[in-house]
Amino acid sequence: MNKKTVDDINPQGKRVLVRVDFNVPLDENCHVTDDTRIRAALPTIKSLVDRGGRVILMSHLGRPKGQVKEEFRLEPVAKKLSELLGKPVSALKDCIGDDVKAAIDKMQDGEVVLLENLRFHPEEEKNDPEFCKQLAALGDMYVNDAFGTAHRAHASTEGVTRFFDTNVAGYLMKKEIEYLVQAIQAPERPFIAILGGLKISGKIDVIQNLLDKVDSILIGGAMAYTLLKVKGCDVGDSIVEEEKLDVARDVIQAVEEKGVDFLLPVDHKAAADVKDGVTPQTISDINIPAGLKGIDIGPETVKAYQAKILGAKTIVWNGPMGVFEIPAFADGTMQIANAVADSGAVSIVGGGDSVSAVHKAGVSDKISHISTGGGASLELLEGKTLPGLAALTDK
Ligand code: 3PG
Repeated sequence: MNKKTVDDINPQGKRVLVRVDFNVPLDENCHVTDDTRIRAALPTIKSLVDRGGRVILMSHLGRPKGQVKEEFRLEPVAKKLSELLGKPVSALKDCIGDDVKAAIDKMQDGEVVLLENLRFHPEEEKNDPEFCKQLAALGDMYVNDAFGTAHRAHASTEGVTRFFDTNVAGYLMKKEIEYLVQAIQAPERPFIAILGGLKISGKIDVIQNLLDKVDSILIGGAMAYTLLKVKGCDVGDSIVEEEKLDVARDVIQAVEEKGVDFLLPVDHKAAADVKDGVTPQTISDINIPAGLKGIDIGPETVKAYQAKILGAKTIVWNGPMGVFEIPAFADGTMQIANAVADSGAVSIVGGGDSVSAVHKAGVSDKISHISTGGGASLELLEGKTLPGLAALTDK
């Protein structure tokens, strides 16, 4: 990565403003149910603390749309961070203003505070210059470790950087970029992409961008049915994005023109209803009869995908193969997760659902890199520039 990092700054005695992505799931009692993103930011926070920085963390949580919403307060996150860090982390009541400034003025070297949810202010998402200035006034230096939010040009990720001479990446940002960019630009081959999930619309740009880069693309999830329909197959009552059939047609045409190895399901698990307690039928054919919905890839598809995965040297996976949240429809996704884990390839998994799938399959520790950014990793795979990364200082 050609950006400066926390290793290039001396935080001793300085107020270090650090953008993290603590957008984590909370239960109804406001307990953090998945602390992956908090743990992922620890190396940067610890390094700054150990070197005598006064660490001022800022994050968004959820989408409160510019209003103060109790369920989106960051206090439970500060509590969890404090546990993981083994030192107190005070949760401030706002992210700008006199009280915040006063609290920061009292900080000692090595202390950590967490500002209140940035998105309680509509100016955050509007990237409002005055709000950026107020945030910037809280720190002497700026660090961005929020890879998961790097695709947003918001005040705390982009605008604020205009007020500092040097803006550096944290270790998580560095690691995410290095894995994903290396995979796309200089992969060890064969390089395969496994793409799944509900909608083809969310993956079109990824497919188009990867056509020139990968050796094979394996498709699963409901998005496969839109593509199969375009190819003239019967898809029964499966979910199809009717308004995206033209775009799906363009994808198939581009695949054929470029001669890309593009695998679609050849058989399916299907049912009339997608709900707990339903036993799926195996449809040993590419066509799905009327009255049935395709809900998972079938056993022959699993075999074909496993063969590609086990022969790969680099694998990028985004999106499940079926409705894996329901055990009867989880088989395809679980088998793919296991194959990726067994492949010995450099494997990168991104996107909330596929990350949950590798956890559910119990193979997380065999995946080379589990991305903390769903949208951000997709945009990188689409070949887009991430504003939060672009704003950081070049080496
Ligand atoms: C995410 O969870 O993908 C990031 O935190 C970004 O959140 P957003 O999609 O609400 O901007």
